[in-house]
Amino acid sequence: MADDKNHVYIFDTTLRDGEQALMRSLTPVQKLQLAMMLDELGVDVIEAGFPISSPGDLKSVHDIGHALKHAVCCGLSRTVEKDIDAVHEALHGLDHYRIHTFVATSDIHVKDKLHRSFDDIIAMCDHHVRYARNYTDDVEFSCEDAGRTPIDHLCRIVETAINAGATTVNIPDTVGYTLPYEFGGIIRTLFNRVPNIDKARISVHCHNDLGMATANSLTAVQEGARQIEVCMNGLGERAGNCSLEEVVMSMKLRAPYMHGVYTNVVAENIARASQMVASVCNEPVPSHKAIVGSNAFAHSSGIHQDGVLKNKQTYEILTPESVGFKENNMHMTARSGRHMIKAVLEKLGYKEGTYNLDDIYQRFLKLADRKGQVFDYDLEALMYFSQDEDEENQFKLDNLSVMSGGKNIIPTASVRLRIGKRTRTESGTGNGPVDAVFNCISRLTGLKLKLESFQINAKGSGMNAQGQVNVDVIYEGRHYYGVGISTDVIEASALSLISASNSIYRAQVIEQEKEQEENKEK
Ligand code: KIV
Ligand code: ZN
Repeated sequence: MADDKNHVYIFDTTLRDGEQALMRSLTPVQKLQLAMMLDELGVDVIEAGFPISSPGDLKSVHDIGHALKHAVCCGLSRTVEKDIDAVHEALHGLDHYRIHTFVATSDIHVKDKLHRSFDDIIAMCDHHVRYARNYTDDVEFSCEDAGRTPIDHLCRIVETAINAGATTVNIPDTVGYTLPYEFGGIIRTLFNRVPNIDKARISVHCHNDLGMATANSLTAVQEGARQIEVCMNGLGERAGNCSLEEVVMSMKLRAPYMHGVYTNVVAENIARASQMVASVCNEPVPSHKAIVGSNAFAHSSGIHQDGVLKNKQTYEILTPESVGFKENNMHMTARSGRHMIKAVLEKLGYKEGTYNLDDIYQRFLKLADRKGQVFDYDLEALMYFSQDEDEENQFKLDNLSVMSGGKNIIPTASVRLRIGKRTRTESGTGNGPVDAVFNCISRLTGLKLKLESFQINAKGSGMNAQGQVNVDVIYEGRHYYGVGISTDVIEASALSLISASNSIYRAQVIEQEKEQEENKEK
């Protein structure tokens, strides 16, 4: 390891581990937008996806790799040659890229999941790390479920991976099971017992099932780890991954306890990054979330308020400004120009070139006419739907009218949809206006759906809020999710069902393409 021993690499896996846990996967445009924001945030490595998982993911990893200006782009692979080939296919041609290959090492995974012996696992690690090194000098090897792996096995596989050429060896607590003292002990033992450990960077990847991800990661750094794998807002499988903002701010704020280590993350960009991830991933940040929750800097009790008025530091360990929270003083109305909209999008983290300004501006004007004043979250919602449309959706709402209310009126709806290149209209009734609209849409799409859940929330506050509807539908035994946002909640409901129907349609197209590929190979 030739570089600064105090630099703790931040490896961001929001687009891989974070994305795989979302109810609705991100579009390639959304992934690119997030990647460019993370690049500007100052993370060192961006795990952009799992290229073997689909041709779309491979292309998305390729596009991100070619767009990043600072961070190293990384793709995930199992210890399988064709997975590694797929990462290479996505990223070759770049001056520098990382192949991240992993295999499970704990007894339960090795025996019950992989049906292998530990010697097989050692051989797989050795072969595939060498195989990946033929493509790039930057190879990371992960021992999945390292937290529950017998320590002798862990020492042996870490040594094998480094001998085979791994430049980073990652120790995941895949199921978030360990406690800080215990996890720190694992890292300490590796440093004490693995003879070639100084030839690689040791990384940690902690899940948050017991709420220990941040504590475990920081303890590992105290024991010598120099890369932490994180997701923005702590997104990720189950209870999530270690959250970027928590480890970065802890290291910064408690530097005396962290023996001079530092990260390259620009702390003042954290709020913006958090808000963008929450909005693009449609995963709101809990209000009490450390560092980035809306209450993280709010003081409620009288005693606390009194203290803060006398001296902020009585109850505030860091300032909102230090992570980039600022008041928004921009007023967006129908009189605002394109330049203003571009500036606000920039502030929200969207880089020029990753969206169509003309399209957003036209939609903004329509919304401003309807609402009077447009807020940041409205603009985010517009971005959300323009990205949806980039995917050339099969179904698009063309017109909607609803009659309801009053004792003797049967709720009736008329819906016009654009379906591919054609337009069709259906009218129908229901037990309420939303039911009537859903009945029409189901007849138009021809998809027999079961509505599993329907949630309606206000995006924004007071009279300025927009309605956001999230639906979870079941089609042929699988769950699909849809979201719709509008000033009109019936329209938001229609949009949410259309969004879920588009996901089903896309899944069907992908299935058909896969079948055709398989038939070709036969
Ligand atoms: O949690 C885990 O073990 C992972 C690996 C693929 C690194 O995500
Ligand atoms: Zn993980």
